[in-house]
Amino acid sequence: KVSTVKTLVEKPGLTHIPPTYAFQTRSASDQEIPSNEAAGEPEGPIPIVDFSLLTSGTPDQRSTIIQDLRNICQDWGCFMVINHGVDESLLNKILDGCREFFDLEDKEEKKEYEGKKILDTICYGTSTDGPPSEALFWRDYLRVRVHPEFHSPRKPAGFSEVLAAFSEGVRGVVRDLLGGISESLGLESSHIYRALDVESSLQLFVANFYPPCPQPELALGLPSHTDPGLLTLLMQNGINGLQLQRKGKWINANIISGAFFVQIDDHLEVFTNGKYKSVTHRAVVNNKSTRISIAVVNGPSLDTVVSPELELLGNGSHTAAYAEMKYKDYLELRYKKSLNGNSTLNHIK
Ligand code: SIN
Ligand code: FE2
Repeated sequence: KVSTVKTLVEKPGLTHIPPTYAFQTRSASDQEIPSNEAAGEPEGPIPIVDFSLLTSGTPDQRSTIIQDLRNICQDWGCFMVINHGVDESLLNKILDGCREFFDLEDKEEKKEYEGKKILDTICYGTSTDGPPSEALFWRDYLRVRVHPEFHSPRKPAGFSEVLAAFSEGVRGVVRDLLGGISESLGLESSHIYRALDVESSLQLFVANFYPPCPQPELALGLPSHTDPGLLTLLMQNGINGLQLQRKGKWINANIISGAFFVQIDDHLEVFTNGKYKSVTHRAVVNNKSTRISIAVVNGPSLDTVVSPELELLGNGSHTAAYAEMKYKDYLELRYKKSLNGNSTLNHIK
């Protein structure tokens, strides 16, 4: 069993990372552009969407924001959402709760959740690439299935209530965003929600813990990947580290405090037949502060078979570029393969 990064950094006098964490041996895409060469934001800041205009704007404001969403989804595949209505105190509580979870003694409840698979209800561990490389990343994580059945670690005290409220709040934001995105595609507002059974959405809550790394330029928090599902909503403890690939360059996603960073995921790409593409991203680490990020991956239901939407294919006048696949099968396949540089999307072309 691999010990966690947290245990590793708690040993005094760590000045070099163990060679198993050095990413030079990793995929070509992660080697090409070392983290410290990420060129700031050469393409301008990440677009910001004012959520309140979507839910309570005037008809004019609403149609403007939907047009913005269309451009942003096509051009960027990600954006930041402000005024999303989830209480700032709840965001702080969930961040504090995650920090407390990672601070639990390893022999405590955390042990129960070690070494689990993607569809297990609660999983705690350190990040490896899986076979065959078993490469290690500078990241510990807690992953919990919070919907359609709700699960939670029992500790720390009070965490479960906060997690339930937070994931419900996120589902509300996702529902309205999918409404806006449906309209941006020329569909009825509830179209995606109904077509992909989002009422029974598989919602995965992932807390990522990246402690300071003595040689941040040699390690990676998470390698280059896209997320499964429809939309991922991400927030963090004020420390940046997310990068996204844009026009062939890695750029830093400096996330506004209190905002959600929203990413288009693989199954929205399939559903839109590639009109909106999932965004390739990774996490880099630093040598100063512990970064905690929380990513909520919002999918269709596990049994939904996702395929390019006929209405968007002009009822057959365009060809489908992706094979259909049940969400559950996709997840199982994905976690059998190594994450690094792989896409599990089944392109027809
Ligand atoms: C993720 O890709 O799931 C998390 C990335 C981050 O920590 O910003
Ligand atoms: Fe991700």
